[in-house]
Amino acid sequence: MKPGMSLMKHYLQFKDLRAEEYAYLFERTREIKRRFKNYEKYTPLSDRTLAMIFEKASTRTRVSFEAGMYQMGGSVVHLTTGDSQLGRAEPIEDSARVISRMVDIVMIRTYEQDKLERFAAHSRVPVINGLTNEFHPCQILADLFTYLEHRGSLGPAGVDIGCLRGKTVAWVGDGNNMANTWLQAAEILGFTVHVSTPSGYEIDPAVAGIRSTGCYKVFADPMDACRGADLVTTDVWTSMGFEAENEARKQAFADWCVDAEMMAVARPDALFMHCLPAHRGEEVTAEVIDGPQSVVWDEAENRMHVQKALMEYLLLGRIGR
Ligand code: CP
Ligand code: NVA
Repeated sequence: MKPGMSLMKHYLQFKDLRAEEYAYLFERTREIKRRFKNYEKYTPLSDRTLAMIFEKASTRTRVSFEAGMYQMGGSVVHLTTGDSQLGRAEPIEDSARVISRMVDIVMIRTYEQDKLERFAAHSRVPVINGLTNEFHPCQILADLFTYLEHRGSLGPAGVDIGCLRGKTVAWVGDGNNMANTWLQAAEILGFTVHVSTPSGYEIDPAVAGIRSTGCYKVFADPMDACRGADLVTTDVWTSMGFEAENEARKQAFADWCVDAEMMAVARPDALFMHCLPAHRGEEVTAEVIDGPQSVVWDEAENRMHVQKALMEYLLLGRIGR
């Protein structure tokens, strides 16, 4: 962090940023993506290094952060539990103190949110949540940008995040890190989440970190959650770290498969999203995820563009203002 820069920000949960900061980030994302598509070099992070710490597997998060940082002129250090002292019980606080003296920004994918928070509390540089058991804010950032690209306003006058207000997102499946993050986004940006989970896998508003339960409605039947929705979304039945529950979950989630019937009761122009990786025939049918309403490939690509905007914002502040 350069001397004189304003207070350092982390991105540990979706609610760490305000609505107007999201409007700014989406505008920057649009510009950064435009430059990328036009092969225009943009290297504002040429002297910066990102450390990526993975305690769980990843394809999209790894590639999007690593490619994004190189495109912006920076460098990347990749650490996992298996190839660092993190796997040999070095305290997370000590790891944070050391790593953050050598790099400019850190992305972590880990288990408990508490571990990420403890790292951030001892870090000299901004820390980004690359997924925890509780939250996945970079994914929702990409999902919202993808929605704005397909159904919102990204015109020359700027990004109108107001068009998200009053919209309905149907969440079909586990009350997990993705669901919790959707709820935080709904509370900040003024839309409603229709949540349908099997019994025993419900949302816990305390874990989701929302101020009130006004941003979501619960439906026993996933068809009812999808009725009139602008966006239908789901996720794996078994998240990373919960593999021991796989068989029990397969039974419990059998009716929570997003299929053509569910999409048919959503709005005719409804989109389908999935953070991926997907299991066709489990949480979604091949017909839906490979069908015309699905925007999952744009959603995956946009991880890189939104995260470039996020790193730019956390490291350089607002550009051109
Ligand atoms: N959606 C997502 O975070 O994918 P990876 O687990 O591949 O990073
Ligand atoms: N809920 C899933 C998301 C994977 C990107 C998990 O935590 O494994």
